[in-house]
Order: sequence, then structure tokens, then C-alpha cells
Amino acid sequence: MHLNLFVLGHGHHESAWRQPRPNALGLTDVAYYAQLARKAEAALFDSVFFADALALGYEAAHTAVGGLEPLTLVAALAQATERIGLIATASTTHTEPFNLARQLASLDHLTGGRVGWNIVTSWVQGAAENFGHAGQIDHAERYARAHEFLEVALKLWDSWADDAVIDDRAAGRYLRPDRIRAIDHVGPYHRVAGPLNLPRGPQGRPVLVQAGSSESGKSFAAQYAEAVFTAHLDQARALAFTQDLKARAARFGRSHALPIVLPGISPVIGSTEAEAQRLWTELNALTDPEVGRARLSHRFGGVDFSHLPLDRPLSPADFPDPRSVQAAQSRAVLITDLVARERPTLRTLLQQLAGARGHFTLAGTPGQVADAMEAWVRSGAADGFNVMPPVLPTQFDVFVEQVVPLLQQRGLFRRAYAADTLRGHYGLARPVNPFFSAARA
Ligand SMILES: Cc1cc2nc3c(=O)[nH]c(=O)nc-3n(C[C@H](O)[C@H](O)[C@H](O)COP(=O)(O)O)c2cc1C
Repeated sequence: MHLNLFVLGHGHHESAWRQPRPNALGLTDVAYYAQLARKAEAALFDSVFFADALALGYEAAHTAVGGLEPLTLVAALAQATERIGLIATASTTHTEPFNLARQLASLDHLTGGRVGWNIVTSWVQGAAENFGHAGQIDHAERYARAHEFLEVALKLWDSWADDAVIDDRAAGRYLRPDRIRAIDHVGPYHRVAGPLNLPRGPQGRPVLVQAGSSESGKSFAAQYAEAVFTAHLDQARALAFTQDLKARAARFGRSHALPIVLPGISPVIGSTEAEAQRLWTELNALTDPEVGRARLSHRFGGVDFSHLPLDRPLSPADFPDPRSVQAAQSRAVLITDLVARERPTLRTLLQQLAGARGHFTLAGTPGQVADAMEAWVRSGAADGFNVMPPVLPTQFDVFVEQVVPLLQQRGLFRRAYAADTLRGHYGLARPVNPFFSAARA
């Protein structure tokens, strides 16, 4: 199985930042991220991933927010690590393809072929307001722009043949002009002449990762994504999603192995089940329902839930139609489906979401966590996991020391790296450049 470490704040649980920490490193200290990335590398993880939003969270006063910009952070971590893949989030809605394709190509060179791009359309309304828009940009429009953005970025990364640089000092020729091409793209959202102003990277292009799970998100992933991050509360729903996504990808003529699906897992691990449950209860006890309520409202694109009492059972009628939500649409669907199935009170719902915002959570022993991971992978629900420790670094330490060896003993996880690039770890081929015949010897 593939394992990615998802680093978020001081951990994924809403109250992680309030836990005592073994060191005082803050969220703007590169050493904090370097320690985590090196730990993940020592444990042979495929990759480490950094999320991003282009606005300060609404609940900022009562949660730890304000981390480093991911492309910049990955550049620093390239120097602090050697083998592990480094995945940075960047938005197609609030950047231009030339800039971002260039930054990612630079990072591919800088990391020696270890960079991945988590392609997001930025569902956070404040992001739109930070980039000249009066309010949220429509979900459909964000994905339409993302499609064109990808088309342009791919053409830019392929605007150089692999053998374009000859660096022939005697003859005074640096490049072969016939091995570089303009892209002359003109579309509804972008006009880009090209070519890119640097050579193709070691991976040809960064590994393309995507994390939207709405209808539009799945269509996009089926066409472009090489790996997919996704949130599911249980194995059966993850299986349905994975089968659907791979069938859609097959309709684009892609291999059934693609995209690699990495659902989130946020395990609270204890040496006994009782200890794990106690840790889980302690974490939940520190949550603030008003922070949870603000987060819920945020996910639904600003819907006001202030009138909902904390202790009466909810019904789907308390929520808008999730498919009309212009913010995090698939997460709105996940939450309203949960409400329809279980009819939790708002207090209970917020505690369920406090762990990992709708990703799979469990509290158990290392063996129970390994059992769940094995079952998901063997059933085809997952190709691996986006590991989301509830508290960093402590719960990640336990995962690395006690769960990873079990996965290795069961033959489910590598015992040594077999590759030096992220493509290599994920078993992905280096893409052939469709615009040039094979590189000359
Ligand atoms: C594991 C995971 C990580 C994500 N990271 C980010 C992120 O860093 N920035 C962001 O804007 N959205 C992020 N998203 C949100 C998705 O990109 C997407 O907007 C959201 O899942 C809603 O998808 P949909 O609009 O297709 O339903 C993430 C989603 C998942 C499952």
C-alpha cells in the first residue's frame, strides 16, 4: 500500500493544538515540518502533503492556523530530505498556469523528481475575496477553469523535448530550437504563448494529485489525476467511490490501476483499546462546539447554523440541498448523508467531525488500525492511505513505531525504498512527451 503523511497544523483533531507538545516548534518554523518529513522518510512513506487555503480560517481565534505556503515549504524540505515525495497544494482558481507550471517544474528539478501537485479549486469563500472577486466563484465555473488550466500546464511542461538542451560549448549552441515549441493556447480563461522557460523536470511533470469528490471533481480526477485524496466515513462508501472513479478513468482509456486512491485515515492509537478510547474522549472534551459550528457553516459556504440547538436530533431538513453548495460540495453531501442515516444531535455531529472533518477515524490498538487498513486495501476500497494523525507529532510517532512494522510483517508495505522519485514510489511511469519523437541518443 502507499502511505502519505498529511501534515496539518499540530494534528488533524480540532483540539490537537491544545495538547502538550514534546517541543515548542511553531507552525512557521521550518524545523517542525522538516522533523515530520524526515520521520515519514525514515518510515519509508511515499510522500508528505501540505494543504493550503488562500484565506485565514473563520475560526482563527480558537484553532492553530497560519502555516507556511506549501510551494515555498517544499523548496525548503527538498534540502532536508532525500527520497520522500513532497506534495504541495496550489489553486487553479487563483493562479495563472504559466506561473504555477514554472514553479512546479522548478520544484521538480529542485527535489530531484519528488514533487507532486495537489490540484484544488479553492472552495473557501474568503479566497475569492482575496483575489478580486466579490463572492464565491461558482463550483461549475471553478472546475471549468481547472480543466483549461490543466490543459495549459500540461502543454507547458511538454513544451521542451527531453533532449532540448545540448550545451555544446565548442559549437556555441545551448538549445535545439526544433526541440522546443510554443503552445499558443487561447481559451475562455487563459491565453498563453509558451514555451515554458525551463527544461522538463526529472519526472517529466509533477505527480498530479486531486482531492475533489463531487461529480465535477470525480470527472476531473478521472481525466487527469494520478493520485486522489478523498474522505469517507467507512469502507463500504470508500469502495463505491474507488470503483466509480476507476471506471470513469477507464472511460478515458486509462489503466485500471489509476488513479491511485488514498482515503484519509485518522487513527487514535493506544496500547489497549481502552487507552485509545480514553485519548479520544480527552481530545473530544477539549473541542468547542462553537468552533465546530463555524467550521460547519464554512464548509456549506456560509450557511447560518446559529439557530440549531446542540442537543436535539438533526434531520436533513436542517441543511440546504448539499448539491447546491458552492463550497466543499462533496463534504456537504457526506455530512448530510450522515445526518440522514444516524440523526445525531448537533453536538454529536460536531464531535464526529472534530476528529478529521469527515475522514475515517478510529480509536484502537496498533493491531486494530493495521487490520482496518488491511481490510480497506484488500477489498479494493483503497490503494493506500492519507495518514492524518490526530495529534502531531506524538500520534504519528506511535503510528510509525507500532503500525508500520505490522503492515510490513503482513507484506502490505515496503521495507526499503525502490525508487528515488515520487513517480517511482507510486509506481507511475514517467510521461512520454506527446509533442516530440523520442529523445535522440
Ligand atoms: C485530503 C483532502 C485534502 C484537501 N486539501 C485541500 C487544500 O489543501 N485546499 C483546498 O482548497 N481544498 C482542499 N481539499 C478540498 C478539495 O480540493 C475539494 O474542494 C473538496 O473536497 C470539495 O470537493 P468538490 O467541490 O469536488 O466536492 C482537500 C480535500 C481532501 C479530501
